[in-house]
Amino acid sequence: MTKPSATGQPTHSGKQRSSFSGKMGYVLAVAGSAVGLGNIWRFPYLAAKYGGGIFLLIYLLLMLTFGYALIISETALGRMTKKSPVGAFHSFGKSLPFHFGGWVNAVIPMLIVPYYCVIGGWVAKYLFEYVKGSAAVLAEDSYFSNFISSGASAEFWLIVFSLAVFLVIIAGVKQGVERVSKIMMPVLVILAIFVSLYSVTRPGAMEGVKYLLVPNLDNFSWMTVVTAMGQMFYSLSIAMGILYTYGSYLKKEVDIEKSTSQVELFDTAIAILAGLMIIPAVFAFSGGSPDTLQAGPSLMFITIPKVFAHMEMGDGFGILFFLLVLFAALTSAISLMETGVSTFEDQFGWSRKKCSLLMAAIILVLGSASALGFSSLDFISLLGMSILDFFDFLTNSIMMPLAALATCFLITRVAGLDAIAKEVEQSSAFRRKKLYYFFMKYLAPVFLGIILISSIANAFGWISM
Ligand code: PHE
Repeated sequence: MTKPSATGQPTHSGKQRSSFSGKMGYVLAVAGSAVGLGNIWRFPYLAAKYGGGIFLLIYLLLMLTFGYALIISETALGRMTKKSPVGAFHSFGKSLPFHFGGWVNAVIPMLIVPYYCVIGGWVAKYLFEYVKGSAAVLAEDSYFSNFISSGASAEFWLIVFSLAVFLVIIAGVKQGVERVSKIMMPVLVILAIFVSLYSVTRPGAMEGVKYLLVPNLDNFSWMTVVTAMGQMFYSLSIAMGILYTYGSYLKKEVDIEKSTSQVELFDTAIAILAGLMIIPAVFAFSGGSPDTLQAGPSLMFITIPKVFAHMEMGDGFGILFFLLVLFAALTSAISLMETGVSTFEDQFGWSRKKCSLLMAAIILVLGSASALGFSSLDFISLLGMSILDFFDFLTNSIMMPLAALATCFLITRVAGLDAIAKEVEQSSAFRRKKLYYFFMKYLAPVFLGIILISSIANAFGWISM
């Protein structure tokens, strides 16, 4: 987690709470955390799997309502208490529900980062192969499945990626990485626009564009809502303690509402661009086969190499694309790991090194389980899911709704909606205040409760969605 100093430069001391230099610094930091594999890898495969246009529509509606209300809530609570989630909850009470609320928020990034590093490793492997000149091989149908089922290779790349994250955290060169990523991000956006233009103009691709952009009610299922909700949390870094911490570094004069809208706009634009790169390609190169649309986590790794294989200078684009994705993944993984490290530091008072080693151990153990879940551990099926899918499901569909519920209760029952409004109004008028109150009071708790119960019921096979 970024711990910016008064000049806006991150420090790692964490002793004195510092602040972002201004609105721009804050928006960039939050956007940097938000844009990652969630946008480029996760959004397209979920949109492909759960109904295309109808998924996108529900995603947008949820983002503009729940997402908006929750980002404001977490940021305002962070700024008000000047604490990360565990401390923020504790500053309102010390009984069990407060412990639970803080810790459920804090534990989520610790469970996400291991499997995030597995996917990061896949990206690193693809980059390596492109550099080696194996573009044609990567575009073969069974390449990806062969790769992930060869346990040793997947494990090796997990270690490579996690080591990079670990070294950045230990060496404290995060600042340098962030600076580089400020250049890489715009390049990524330009490349994404370019590749998506190429993708949507292939023969047959229009079907894919339609599939992604035009809602079709026939494709609707309750799972569409559940996964869209989980994806919204994931992509915007909501309900995992991150925004509390960022909020705690935020100066009083920064307009929380406006920055929230900007972050949402940027994050969603990148997700849609990624969708436009990948989904039309499924139609152009695989005839829109339902199998490919349902491919899940492997979708990006299957279709993108096919796009580049058809492109002039595709090898060069392959290198550039995976390099940029690798960077986006690295910066997000660093901020996820850093969140875990700073929670340990704050709560246990251990040294930074010890906390980093503990996080590294967690990543190695849980990450290896996820990586090997497609090979030597493939006999393990948790509620019918592979280990990686299970962690993704557990955090996104169960723990994040719980964490968001905890935040809702903290606000409506303890801190009071007015206190949040007052915090927001320190910098500007609270333009959507009525809407905010309505969501937090009525819609959010009911809706989150329904989501939570239905995803548990679905996982245990009590209902089928
Ligand atoms: N939002 C990031 C993504 O879309 C994931 C992430 C969550 C990164 C929390 C950092 C912190 O990939």
